[in-house]
Amino acid sequence: ETFQQISGLSFKEKKLSEILGIKKVIIVPGDVDIDSSIKQLLGKEASEFLTNIAGKDDIVAVTGGSSIAAMANFLSPVKSLGTLTFVAARGSLGNELNVEANTLVTKFASQCGAQSRTLFLPENLSETAYNAMIQEPMVKDILNLYEQTNIVIHGIGSAQEMAIRRQSSESIIERLRNEKAVGEAFGYYFDENGEIIYRINTIGIQLEQVKDSQNIIAVAGGSTKAKAILAYFKKDAAKQTVLVTDEGAANGILN
Ligand code: G3H
Repeated sequence: ETFQQISGLSFKEKKLSEILGIKKVIIVPGDVDIDSSIKQLLGKEASEFLTNIAGKDDIVAVTGGSSIAAMANFLSPVKSLGTLTFVAARGSLGNELNVEANTLVTKFASQCGAQSRTLFLPENLSETAYNAMIQEPMVKDILNLYEQTNIVIHGIGSAQEMAIRRQSSESIIERLRNEKAVGEAFGYYFDENGEIIYRINTIGIQLEQVKDSQNIIAVAGGSTKAKAILAYFKKDAAKQTVLVTDEGAANGILN
């Protein structure tokens, strides 16, 4: 990389953090939509950032997705990571087993000798099932950890893609389309004004709890995610967020 390219990126990082209203943006070169191996760069940056900010006994809530999954290879048994507890940010039992939160926290913990807590639950609980589940001691323990979360690591998805990946019903997909959902994070779907228009009915970390945690690491890249990223940060962006993204998404937002 030339000096020009690097200084160009750091200019974009600064500009993007101002536009989104967040603490910091890290941009890796490339576009995951064109070259999926760029995801490894996202994972590397996110892991390095986590390694630098991790505090003793911190509780780290982790969502799912392939971008977060890419962090696993870059977590190692260093001192700052060894006392962490990785907790699945939402319960699931599911259709994306290899990149779901439960799988990732287990993997992350074993990579760096930390602890992990999982929550295996069906997605889209009925009201009755939901009310019964939150009385379970095992579930209460997890809900308690969400209250104490110091660090949140999450992906951001395009709304339609996530609804399809989650095998949501035709009526949900239609509702998302009608209400112009563009972005998704933590099972919340947002329109381009950042308004929540739908939320998956499962047990998971609440947006308020995310906003209360000291550190938030968002990992999302690819030009097709530009709109989703912008939507997610549109309204009351959590200022303590560090976004790890790529040039594809960054250019899409800046242009
Ligand atoms: O909530 C968003 C998704 O977890 C993003 O998944 O990183 O595989 O695009 P992805």
